[in-house]
Amino acid sequence: MKRVTIFGTGYVGLVTGTCLAEVGNQVTCVDIDQAKIDGLNQGRIPIYEPGLEDMVHANVRANRLHFTTDAAKALSAAEIIFIAVGTPPDEDGSADLRHVLAVAGTIGRCLDHDAVVVNKSTVPVGTADKVRHRIQTELAARAVQPRVDVVSNPEFLKEGDAVKDCMRPDRIVIGTDSPQAIDTLKTLYGPFNRNHERLVVMDVRSAELTKYAANAMLATKISFMNEIANIAERVGADIEAVRQGIGSDPRIGYSFIYPGAGYGGSCFPKDVQALERTARQFGYEARILDAVEAVNRDQKHRVLAMLEQHFDDLKGRTVALWGLAFKPNTDDMREAPSRVVIEGLWARGAKVQAFDPEASHEAGRVFGERADLTLCSDAFAALNGADALIVITEWKQFWAADLAAIKAALKTPVVIDGRNIFDPKKAEAAGLAYYGIGRGRSV
Ligand code: UGA
Repeated sequence: MKRVTIFGTGYVGLVTGTCLAEVGNQVTCVDIDQAKIDGLNQGRIPIYEPGLEDMVHANVRANRLHFTTDAAKALSAAEIIFIAVGTPPDEDGSADLRHVLAVAGTIGRCLDHDAVVVNKSTVPVGTADKVRHRIQTELAARAVQPRVDVVSNPEFLKEGDAVKDCMRPDRIVIGTDSPQAIDTLKTLYGPFNRNHERLVVMDVRSAELTKYAANAMLATKISFMNEIANIAERVGADIEAVRQGIGSDPRIGYSFIYPGAGYGGSCFPKDVQALERTARQFGYEARILDAVEAVNRDQKHRVLAMLEQHFDDLKGRTVALWGLAFKPNTDDMREAPSRVVIEGLWARGAKVQAFDPEASHEAGRVFGERADLTLCSDAFAALNGADALIVITEWKQFWAADLAAIKAALKTPVVIDGRNIFDPKKAEAAGLAYYGIGRGRSV
């Protein structure tokens, strides 16, 4: 059992803290947001993440998981301190380290015993050095000298699967040259490191770069497939056949080659940009990353272009949107393609009737009350009187939707399938004018 303190109760901090408590550690989660901490202490979970709520409640009941805004108290007995606060992009796309360094300052001002500081936030190469420097400066000012190792331990959680990914990680990357820190983290991660070795130990800068390289590679796969889909539309090929044709090659693989309306979320767009900026700062122009970003920016407009191709003028039209979240199983709308589509529809004078199983509340917060946006409480209500349906998030419940019922509910039977969830032949047989991504007929 270790005593762990985690700064930041967002996706990463809350999930990591809860999973570490689940395997028996004493965990204190710290946040500066008093309302969030009050909510957590009353059992309210600030995010939607499958399995998380029950796990938080069980570990709070077992007295292993605590929430506080009192950093000094939370640090008083901590053996391992995680930094899991946000690194939003600043104006030029670089990661903003203000929150990370503020936590480092707090640690330096409060700590009076040896500890391992673990950086989980996604931070540019070189940040561990800055964190170490900030902590040491504060310690020196207080004339105390505990041993503090700063380790990079990036997270690879996927929203919607975060608890599962945390309990059963593919790999645990540890960046440090301190044998003591390696030992401490080996013990901490022991329960997650079963059956085969998952710990990959390396120097701190390589660990920091590993995180960006992983996200940039995944984003590249998606933009690459979207580019091939755009070619498929022009040459009259079907990207779904092509996807299966290439995915069967184990060197390519089936995952992350689904074309669609572009990638979103709080990670890929931000991390691809931040890596480009880092490369530039070090005198290198990352041409592939520039292209990945540009293709994705355009791809978010693809479904709008298809709609305009069908109707010429969208003014006065009502468009149904299935999905608001940037992907299924989350209520997160950060950088979601739905936002670009909704703004684009409004700019063209159309109204939106949207349904999302989890993100309606978030959409209300993002857009506020507006006459040209109706947030519907079920999928078919959104179709009522609409001129077209755009599928923008591939929630499971949409896959099996009755195509004849969609036709009956729409005023004009047009479906723009931004995630290729329907079979074009079946859609057409049901009397729908169907447009998919890269499915050969939409240019
Ligand atoms: C991503 C990574 O997958 C995690 O490994 C990483 O830890 C996380 O970022 C992070 O840096 O914190 P996440 O942003 O939750 O996780 O979402 P993904 O499941 O990776 O999806 C990202 C976007 O790509 C979504 O908009 C999704 O619709 C899109 N996507 C995904 C496609 O368009 N095509 C695909 O084939 C796969």
